[in-house]
Amino acid sequence: MTLSEADTRAQAPQTPGSEWWRTAAIYQIYPRSFADHSGDGVGDLPGVTAHLDDLRDLGVDALWLSPFQRSPQNDAGYDVADYCDVDPLFGTLADFDGMLAGAHARGIRIIVDLVPNHSSDQHAWFQEALRAAPGSRERARYMFRDGKGENGEEPPNNWESVFGGPAWSRVTEADGTPGQWYLHLFDASQPDFDWSNEEVREEFRRILRFWLDRGVDGFRVDVAHGLVKQAGLPDYTPDPDAGSMGGDEASVPYWGQPAVHEIYRDWHMLLAEYDGDRALCAEAWLPSVAQTALWVRPDEMHQAFNFEYLETPWDAAHLRAVIAESIATYSGVGAPTTWVLSNHDVVRHATRLSMTVEVPQGYGVGPQTPGKPDYATGVRRARAATSLMLALPGSAYIYQGEELGLPEATELPDDARQDPTWFRTHGERYGRDGCRVPIPWRADAPAFGFSETGASWLPQPDQWAALARDVQTNDPDSTLSLYRSLLAERRARGLGAGGLEWLEGYPDGVVAFRNGDLTVVANVTGGTVPLPAGSVVVASSPLTDDGIPADTTVWVAAD
Ligand code: NOJ
Repeated sequence: MTLSEADTRAQAPQTPGSEWWRTAAIYQIYPRSFADHSGDGVGDLPGVTAHLDDLRDLGVDALWLSPFQRSPQNDAGYDVADYCDVDPLFGTLADFDGMLAGAHARGIRIIVDLVPNHSSDQHAWFQEALRAAPGSRERARYMFRDGKGENGEEPPNNWESVFGGPAWSRVTEADGTPGQWYLHLFDASQPDFDWSNEEVREEFRRILRFWLDRGVDGFRVDVAHGLVKQAGLPDYTPDPDAGSMGGDEASVPYWGQPAVHEIYRDWHMLLAEYDGDRALCAEAWLPSVAQTALWVRPDEMHQAFNFEYLETPWDAAHLRAVIAESIATYSGVGAPTTWVLSNHDVVRHATRLSMTVEVPQGYGVGPQTPGKPDYATGVRRARAATSLMLALPGSAYIYQGEELGLPEATELPDDARQDPTWFRTHGERYGRDGCRVPIPWRADAPAFGFSETGASWLPQPDQWAALARDVQTNDPDSTLSLYRSLLAERRARGLGAGGLEWLEGYPDGVVAFRNGDLTVVANVTGGTVPLPAGSVVVASSPLTDDGIPADTTVWVAAD
């Protein structure tokens, strides 16, 4: 429920210190690949509604839905043409309301994706800007600039798009002559807004209210580190190994500019006018935990994705270091730590954690990538890694399909690929399609139950029949059963609200800690390590007579 218009005083948090987002297990739905109700091969909102009982049974507290708003789908919906409507591909606003009500009725909260750095080039504002003259109010909503060179034939600076190629495109003016350039940090069909323009700020306040009034519980904010660009737009050449979202670099003129924080302070106050502890989560790829923590200071966002954790190799010393640093740094600003291992932009962790070569974020894994692991090793490590993650205090994100142990689809044919990264790099980077393949529900059904018609916007690997949800549902050793147990125990024992006490006396290759009455031991040594005294609550792989085998995490409760 929203406050009456007369009463716009900021509300104090309903449950200070124990707001739901501090501890929630949040499941990411990538709508186009979750469940297809209409039969056109693309998942949709009625498909989500149809599976809400499955999500309740899995034991998650909230869902984050990647974009379903109106979009030409050049970047799978991260190119929004109308922020306040549902794309017909995914259903209608009434379908959204039905899905939200169904989720709330089951005690599941809903977070929607907000894409404020750029719109689609089909957005009414950008179409107006194309028709308007240089210097006009319409152009001032985006980053239009004159080109360099005698006739403005060179782009205004040397910035590169995250997806490869130049970050500027030149328009043809209304009179048919070559004209100004506009900035697009992503695809040419994703023009960047100019956030120094108050009209842009006001429009996004309206968009936030539109969804808050409908009852959403929060927003995942896309490219939350990119909205403000350094004055003067100075040239910048990225480190080629840094990963496409900017990863390790200290100072980039389009990432992490100090003035971006004002925007989130403003949004924080806006959300606080609503009841229910509504939340903002930053998607901000920054060089360190310390920098990311700036996004979750008390008057800014509530959560930020801990990509430092996601990018940590399967190595005990690195894991201990990132866990300790994350907890110390985020609690230093009064924010919960989030934990995440997979999403729609990275190689699924059932593949990534046992690759023998490093793959920069956004590059993907394909038929020619060296160092691909065997599935058994990958899924074993993924189960151990998730069992470690879900024992940590804070909030955890799960990406659809990881509860089935899905690996990356590494053998997609070239002609099936759809990620703009693949096209803009002329096939040099495979991109992210391999983690976006529609998930399998029923082994013997067309498209493994994703769509009754058998249609699927990306082809599903044949081997996924063995990973379908119906095959795993009643198998106590399945990855799905493991996730259900982990989530149920996590909730029952209050692990998200717990603490972490490191345990000494284990070999170097072990991550061992206590959270409440639970002892958690992740064995990353390659050999077997002894099982601590107590009752085994969950083990990510079968234990042996000697103890905890390699690549296994165990939760043990004090007797
Ligand atoms: C981050 C999103 O997660 C990704 O999928 C998208 O391509 C870019 N932002 C651009 O919106």
